[in-house]
Amino acid sequence: MGLFNLTTDLAIDLGTVNTLIYIKGRGIVLNEPSIVALNRSNRRIIAVGYEAQQMDERTPRDIETIRPLKNGVIADFEVAEQMIRQLIRKVQVNWLSAIRRMVICVPRGITEVEKRAVRDAAEHAGARQVYLIDEPMAAAIGIGLNVSEPIGNMVVDIGGGTTEIAVIALSGIVVDESIRVGGNELDAAMVQYFKRNHNLLIGSSTAEQIKKKVGSATELDPELELSVKGRYLVSGIPKIRKISSEDVREAIREPVAQIAAAVIRCLERTPPELGADILERGIMLTGGGSLLKGLDEMIRMRVDLPVYVAEDPLTAVVRGTGEVLEDMHGYKNVLT
Ligand SMILES: Nc1ncnc2c1ncn2[C@@H]1O[C@H](COP(=O)(O)OP(=O)(O)OP(=O)(O)O)[C@@H](O)[C@H]1O
Ligand SMILES: [Mg+2]
Repeated sequence: MGLFNLTTDLAIDLGTVNTLIYIKGRGIVLNEPSIVALNRSNRRIIAVGYEAQQMDERTPRDIETIRPLKNGVIADFEVAEQMIRQLIRKVQVNWLSAIRRMVICVPRGITEVEKRAVRDAAEHAGARQVYLIDEPMAAAIGIGLNVSEPIGNMVVDIGGGTTEIAVIALSGIVVDESIRVGGNELDAAMVQYFKRNHNLLIGSSTAEQIKKKVGSATELDPELELSVKGRYLVSGIPKIRKISSEDVREAIREPVAQIAAAVIRCLERTPPELGADILERGIMLTGGGSLLKGLDEMIRMRVDLPVYVAEDPLTAVVRGTGEVLEDMHGYKNVLT
């Protein structure tokens, strides 16, 4: 570091819900929501990250909040580029310093055009060399698996916009499944459910809060209760209603089942030798979605294999991407 260090190497987990930045030699320096607030008329950015999230769903008419990523891919290129630029600016120690290398993870299920967009956004944000890595590979490295071994490991990264499942061996992805279902889908299912069954209109961030507090994939003992504020559709005015964890479980049943079904599909396509390794080592869950209560147990019951939630699942991908950045030569086989 210091004044004379004029280049920085960065690793970025550009997620649908959260963006994390890792600086070589320093570790994780930023972890903020992937959201931008801008002025509707002149498109100037007012805030990014946490500050912009505070404004979400309560914006006056001249301010708009945008989440530039949808299902793991860039949906609004200009805003995504601005967001990356501004988030990097927040953590750069030295404004003179240039970004030399940037390693960014991308979902496995993305097209060449979508990859190009990530690469271009990183270059426009100032990176001279951009490297891409598959998100489940980064997750596997981040939780400390030795991905170069001739042994199969299964990682399930449940993010906000995607669930990525991969069986990894010898530094490569042998089989994978990627579905555009993640935590956001659970929130949306809750909004629908409470509207239909309780005449209660809630915002998606309220749904997310409820999910984190009382959401579960399996029965809870005891079941939980929560007071929820929303707009009562019968009278049209704000109201508080009591809801139960059983309600929430029912609301998210379908997308949760889709995640389990994707894990099963991936296992069915896994070569037997690698399947035997997974039987022994179990399945590792990462990503914020893996924090849903009982999700590991629910998947375990469906597949009859050991299932573990990784330690600190929300930072697994950026830690893995950072590890690759620290040893680009050693990990050259995992870069795409
Ligand atoms: N305790 C919790 N219980 C349930 N869900 C949670 C919990 N904590 C976080 N989440 C969910 O995790 C998701 C965010 O996870 P993460 O940061 O891994 O996603 P992302 O990397 O931004 O998305 P993606 O990888 O799909 O692009 C959100 O949908 C959030 O609601
Ligand atoms: Mg992610």
